[in-house]
Amino acid sequence: MSAFRPGEWALLISQKGKKWLVKVEDAPYSSHLGTVQMRDVQGKEEGEFLETNKGAKLYLFRPTLEDFIFTMKRQTQIIYPKDLGAMVFHGDIQPGQTILESGIGSGALTLALLRALCGTGRLISVEKRPEFARLARSNITRFFGRHPDNHEIVVGDIQDFAMTVKADRIFLDLPEPWHAVGPVSVLLRQGGILVSLSPNIGQVQLVHKELKASGFANVWTFELLKREWKIDERRARPVDRMVAHTGFITVARKTPVYIDSESEA
Ligand SMILES: C[S@@+](CC[C@H](N)C(=O)[O-])C[C@H]1O[C@@H](n2cnc3c(N)ncnc32)[C@H](O)[C@@H]1O
Repeated sequence: MSAFRPGEWALLISQKGKKWLVKVEDAPYSSHLGTVQMRDVQGKEEGEFLETNKGAKLYLFRPTLEDFIFTMKRQTQIIYPKDLGAMVFHGDIQPGQTILESGIGSGALTLALLRALCGTGRLISVEKRPEFARLARSNITRFFGRHPDNHEIVVGDIQDFAMTVKADRIFLDLPEPWHAVGPVSVLLRQGGILVSLSPNIGQVQLVHKELKASGFANVWTFELLKREWKIDERRARPVDRMVAHTGFITVARKTPVYIDSESEA
């Protein structure tokens, strides 16, 4: 355990679970529960609390990546943590890999991939719109404290992108991913994994068709439904509302040639 230092992010959590992400600096921070002096966080450790001028107690923690993603500036639809976890796992991300990603959007997937690479390997993010490239860069710098050396943002269309080394993994979060599958398939090494996320099943059907035409095998699609429960002495039941649908995740492996499953006995 180490004490909070000036300039760090601290997560303040109320007893009812309301969260605020605040910089540890010489300034007050106010919410409906009152004001705290953020300089008082210096020297405290995770799990301790601050008391507001209205007497409310706020726990202090370092933010998780999930906390950061939900509070960062967003101008695009982001990939939700439940899907990020599955994409990183089914993409089998390991330190040292070369990963190609498009588009970057607000940078949620980028942050998850950089976290999983642990400062090793290389992540190249190709984004068509310069304003999203700038936003994502600022979110990434805000999270890591600096822009990681193993990350490169290229402003351009993924369909025109070329690179000299082959990628171990490719991640697509694009409105029309089927147009990118053919062009990026030549950038992925044999045995490499492509992961694509799309909100509509019609998009997924087109992606499957292109993946098969571009020499991918073991093509499969799933979605994840996450339902939280309300638990106390009186109740143990699902919460009233849930995010019912986010996206379909498609995973595929690169082969030199696609063998139609019809040929399997
Ligand atoms: C839904 S957002 C990506 C969100 C991101 N994965 C995240 O978690 O924050 C889709 C992004 O793809 C970009 N895009 C769309 N078509 C593209 C293309 N052909 N080449 C590169 N980027 C593209 C859009 O500008 C947008 O930023």
